[in-house]
Amino acid sequence: MAMTDYLNDMPAQGNRKVVLVGTGFVGMSMAYTLMNHKGIDELVLVDVNTEKAEGEAMDLVHGLPYANGKLKVYAGDYSDCTDANVIVVTAGAAQKPGQTRLELVAINTKIMASVGKSIKESGFNGVIVVASNPCDIMTYVMQKATGLHPYQVLGSGTMLDTARLRYEIGNFFEVNPASVHGYIMGEHGDSSFVSWTNSYIGCKSLLEVVEERKVPFDQLQRIYEQVRDAAYEIINKKRATYYGIGMSLARLVDAILNNENTVLPLSCYLEGQYGHEGLYIGVPAIINRAGIREILTLPLTESDQEKFDRSCSTLQEIINTTVT
Ligand code: LAC
Repeated sequence: MAMTDYLNDMPAQGNRKVVLVGTGFVGMSMAYTLMNHKGIDELVLVDVNTEKAEGEAMDLVHGLPYANGKLKVYAGDYSDCTDANVIVVTAGAAQKPGQTRLELVAINTKIMASVGKSIKESGFNGVIVVASNPCDIMTYVMQKATGLHPYQVLGSGTMLDTARLRYEIGNFFEVNPASVHGYIMGEHGDSSFVSWTNSYIGCKSLLEVVEERKVPFDQLQRIYEQVRDAAYEIINKKRATYYGIGMSLARLVDAILNNENTVLPLSCYLEGQYGHEGLYIGVPAIINRAGIREILTLPLTESDQEKFDRSCSTLQEIINTTVT
């Protein structure tokens, strides 16, 4: 099926409707962030715990007079997916202290498959965003369960990792993170990496800035390790992460609903890009109301390509042994 065939019967853009599946800390952090966004008209909360979904909806709407008052927020079910534009899936178990994201694959695969089946039965034909961990594997499971075009199903991928990277580089070099450009790529997890040759401060190569300011190169490695291990550190201190990922998801929902054609590092289905196919992994991509419009292939050094290959192998191994 051509990339745009499914566009023909996608939901009308008039009423911008989002369904959130999973009203835990991550999902509700996104919901709370969206309350003040003007680009959304309707937010439906779906959870296996219907009481929780109802309570969260009640709590949110009581703030509406001080926020985006015209936003409709309510607890619903999978029948509300039929005419939705975007479904965000955050359902599933979260990391415990010391646990890796990949260790969640068994329990969350079952949940993803069940959620995907319910979404498919609703006749949904919009864009699905998966944040449940391990994100890249769960996005793969979701696409298989719904049978939607692979570019209609994407994961938050390394969006939050990249935000952490931009923050840490901005903090170290005393530059606004909005002027730091670059991506964490690969698995949303321990095998991710930074392509330093594709990282910039403004339009200036980060490596040139490092050289000019005589910053030891291992400082960049330390910044990467801070980013890679951020979730573990936060979980050790406060039991879970949710604000950063919630804000990342709200940003992603905006980019889709507003048909932005923005470049974000997302978990995308590879069809030969970077020499790999048949799996989801974090790469920069152009995103709009139809989902992934185009994956951007960056020029990788030999060392970066090896890291990318290793990350793909990590994920492929899990897919081969656990999912299929
Ligand atoms: C984190 C979770 C979202 O990185 O995996 O905080």
